[in-house]
Amino acid sequence: MVVAHTLDDLLPADVLARQDPELAELLIGELDRQSTTLQLIAAENFTSPAVLAALGSPLANKYAEGYPGARHHGGCELVDVAERLAVERAKTLFGAEHANVQSHSGSSAVLAAYAALLRPGDTVLALGLPHGGHLTHGSPANFSGRWFDFVGYGVDPESGLIDYEQVHALARTHRPKAIVCGSISYPRHIDYAAFRAVADEVGAYLIADAAHPIGLVAGGAAPSPLPYADVVCATTHKVLRGPRGGMLLCGAELAERVDRAVFPFTQGGAQMHTIAAKAVAFGEAATPAFTAYAHQVVANARALAAGLTAEGLAVTTGGTDTHLLTLDPAPLGVDGRTARGRLAAAGLVLDTCALPHPDVRGLRLGTAAVTTQGMGEAEMARIAVLLGRALREEPAGRLVREEVRDLTGRFPPYPD
Ligand SMILES: Cc1ncc(COP(=O)(O)O)c(C=O)c1O
Repeated sequence: MVVAHTLDDLLPADVLARQDPELAELLIGELDRQSTTLQLIAAENFTSPAVLAALGSPLANKYAEGYPGARHHGGCELVDVAERLAVERAKTLFGAEHANVQSHSGSSAVLAAYAALLRPGDTVLALGLPHGGHLTHGSPANFSGRWFDFVGYGVDPESGLIDYEQVHALARTHRPKAIVCGSISYPRHIDYAAFRAVADEVGAYLIADAAHPIGLVAGGAAPSPLPYADVVCATTHKVLRGPRGGMLLCGAELAERVDRAVFPFTQGGAQMHTIAAKAVAFGEAATPAFTAYAHQVVANARALAAGLTAEGLAVTTGGTDTHLLTLDPAPLGVDGRTARGRLAAAGLVLDTCALPHPDVRGLRLGTAAVTTQGMGEAEMARIAVLLGRALREEPAGRLVREEVRDLTGRFPPYPD
């Protein structure tokens, strides 16, 4: 009998194709889709082959309830080392006193932050969903809106910027137990110091939901919420380019409460393959190459915003500080939903999003994935032109599709 001693022995390239060709074909089809269309969804990226290898490793088999050194299962010696590595790397990367890397997703991390700091029925102040808040920031369809009393602040309808005076006024009126800052679509840096000042004035906790900018923070391309927030929640995918998952960062005084809020309060066994993949991603994010990438992500977003403005699209706040931008396609005679469909047909994959004007859906774009592919400002200028063409004339979609295929062919996400 042949025994697998290496990952290559265990996972030969054609292992899935031999056993389950139907599913293998699907996976290859998805790789082809990702490689031949432009991934402009602001929450997506291409993880490294090393991250994918950790995800597809034997750690996926291991049960590990609890924390390193205090597990409810046997055989955790090696996964304990993997989790400690992930925790130490996260602490060093973000300058945090404590890191919990077990949250299965960004939403689970937010749930744990609320569980650590709040009781059901508490009042929480967060960016309203019509202004770019996440589902976990008080949607009635989500646990947050059911179990807590959310009050929403907004962005100024003209400038698209967070209305800090409104945040202050609402905090004084409602005396929330916690204030949440963070968004799925805010293109500018958040003024964490301003939020901290309001939280201090009314005696509230400050929770930063940095799911989107945390990768930029890791690369030194965006301000860190760490010095200001009591708890920082984040995803490890998106700009940070790790596996899909969540994490929490906080000071030593809240460490135990946060850990207990994750396990056993809101989760069971940790997903050790994902935690190992998070460790790999944190290791990558500590390199100079990642710093250069994070700054390029922002430079690319700015170039894309400028190009799209030149195409006649109305870019919210007039630009961006981050990896994402939002815009209204109305000046080109299409609404957000129609635009998303037309662009998808042309090979430009992106999302619709809320805009500062009530009841109008716009488009949200991000530059993390295309930057990982190696594209720069020149390619962003080209993408802006292609996007404008695809929106302006419907039949142009087919020609644009060919140009997208050509562009992506020159920047494969996983070169041989
Ligand atoms: C601000 C914010 N919070 C939380 C989440 C939730 O992350 P997940 O989809 O991993 O649950 C997201 C995801 O887009 C987000 O943007």
